[in-house]
Amino acid sequence: MMLDQDPARIDAGQVYRRLLGYVKPYWRMFAVSILAMIAFAATEPLFAAMMKPLIDGSFVDRNEEMVRLMPIALVALFLFRGIAGFINAYFLSWVGRRVVADLRQQMFEHLLRAPTHYYDRQGSGHLLAKLTYNVENVATAASTSITTLVRDGFTVIGLMAYMLYINATLSAIFLIIGPVIAGAVKYATKRFRRHSHRIQDRVGALTQVAQEAIDANRVVKAFGGQDRESKRFSQINEKTRSLQMKMIATEAASVPLVQLISAVAIAVIVYLSTMQGLREDISVGTFMSFVVAMGLLLPPVKRLTSVNAHLQQGIIAAQSLFELLDAEEERDQGRRTLTRAAGRIEYRGVTHVYTPDKPPALQDLSLCITPGERVALVGRSGSGKSSLASLLPRFYDATAGEILIDGIPIQDLTLASLRAQISLVSQDVVLFNDTIENNIAYGLPSPPSREILERVARDAHALDFIQALPAGFATRIGDRGVMLSGGQRQRLAIARAMLKNAPILILDEATSALDTESERHIQAALKELMANRTTLMIAHRLSTIENADRILVLDAGRIIEQGRHAELLALGGQYARLYRMQFHDGEDRAVSA
Ligand SMILES: Nc1ncnc2c1ncn2[C@@H]1O[C@H](COP(=O)(O)OP(=O)(O)OP(=O)(O)O)[C@@H](O)[C@H]1O
Ligand SMILES: [Mg+2]
Repeated sequence: MMLDQDPARIDAGQVYRRLLGYVKPYWRMFAVSILAMIAFAATEPLFAAMMKPLIDGSFVDRNEEMVRLMPIALVALFLFRGIAGFINAYFLSWVGRRVVADLRQQMFEHLLRAPTHYYDRQGSGHLLAKLTYNVENVATAASTSITTLVRDGFTVIGLMAYMLYINATLSAIFLIIGPVIAGAVKYATKRFRRHSHRIQDRVGALTQVAQEAIDANRVVKAFGGQDRESKRFSQINEKTRSLQMKMIATEAASVPLVQLISAVAIAVIVYLSTMQGLREDISVGTFMSFVVAMGLLLPPVKRLTSVNAHLQQGIIAAQSLFELLDAEEERDQGRRTLTRAAGRIEYRGVTHVYTPDKPPALQDLSLCITPGERVALVGRSGSGKSSLASLLPRFYDATAGEILIDGIPIQDLTLASLRAQISLVSQDVVLFNDTIENNIAYGLPSPPSREILERVARDAHALDFIQALPAGFATRIGDRGVMLSGGQRQRLAIARAMLKNAPILILDEATSALDTESERHIQAALKELMANRTTLMIAHRLSTIENADRILVLDAGRIIEQGRHAELLALGGQYARLYRMQFHDGEDRAVSA
């Protein structure tokens, strides 16, 4: 569950101001739209006022000029109204769509710079919902509220002023009804605000569940998880529906309530105007004008009473966007840069805690790796191998201790410079839905030449299979590279790392889950990749690391043994035990258990 702020504590004014900031660059278009709204609003009292000459002049007095003029005036009025309405809607939407696009872009860019733990905590479904549903909500709510406030606001003011002008007594009745309406509105919107807030959270949860099931569709099938997923989805689906119904009910109940109050007001006025005394001073045309004005007053008043609901909805949605935008970015305060590191790595008393309620993933770990050294990390699952590796490119910042590259603390380097020193090939190869060529050249400022591309592909033992594909390097590999085998994907990742040509290499189980044939290829590819690079490799298969310069055995976030393969075997400790276990199994099998 996402922890959005309590809606009651949101500073609405601040949210408005911030939203307006997004409108500011487009204030001219916005101003045009507002002016069009006011022009539109002016047509309503004009229409009511037209009733007086229409009835008194054309019908009662049979004034020739009036008879000819009125139909033309009527058409002209509606033509003007139509144009104003169009300009209002078009320009407001124009500004709205720009703001939506700007917000989305800004959020997306912020996400790209968000620290890894932010992703860990939020879940992709919630983030996606913010980027799609919530942004849309802000735009809709904002344009509806602005239109209502300005257009309907001015309409009401214009009509009231006109009514006051033609008959003060009758108009006074309206002013008495006002507070009653306001009270009803206040009650309704309080509930609305609560529901709206919860619904947005629900939609995030809905996306999350759906997305998980879509991404994991093979696991779901293989483990017969359809029923479970279906139940999980149906629970959230049902909850969303019932919440939505509550919101609709609240909204639906508030509208007729307001209408009823207004109808009573009209009834009272009709009754009063027909009373003796009053009737004499009012012409038929004046009375008609007044009644028409009252009738015209109803729809905008009705909309004005629900404007608060829209505003609340918008504020809550906007708040959730701003929360994302205000989330801290990756800290990148270092100013030093390295052109090409020699590749000396040092960990000094590094402790890393992901969540305070769990034991540290790394505990006071110290380690020194010389340039060009190949260091292997082994240890039970959860012993901290990946954590150790992910601190180096600063995917996470160590809770305590210091990490240095070439003697420079990594926080003192710019993130870009630090990460330029590191190539990463991880267990779960991530490829983009793009061509093979673009996947290999990912992150490069300019596309590499065909020769270079073929060379790295050959070195990564990937050239043969790439050339066998229908479109060669131009083949699109589908979402996350689904069109390729696991081994092929891994070799593409190795080619990518080769092309990056960074002095430090991290291999997180780069050879996991491969058959002997692919593994042979990949071993050969990796050997090429490791040449002249400081390498940190994590492997469950001990056979793949036997010729590392040094092997570190991790347990519960500490290094418990280190040395060469033969030394560690002779030591007869955990490494020897792990090794014997794999050896006796007769095949390379992961030691994680
Ligand atoms: N993003 C994270 N958030 C919270 N805890 C985490 C996170 N990543 C790892 N941990 C925890 O840190 C500990 C070490 O995890 P790590 O991934 O470093 O182990 P590992 O040695 O790489 O294991 P494996 O061999 O299974 O890959 C584990 O207890 C794990 O639960
Ligand atoms: Mg790991």
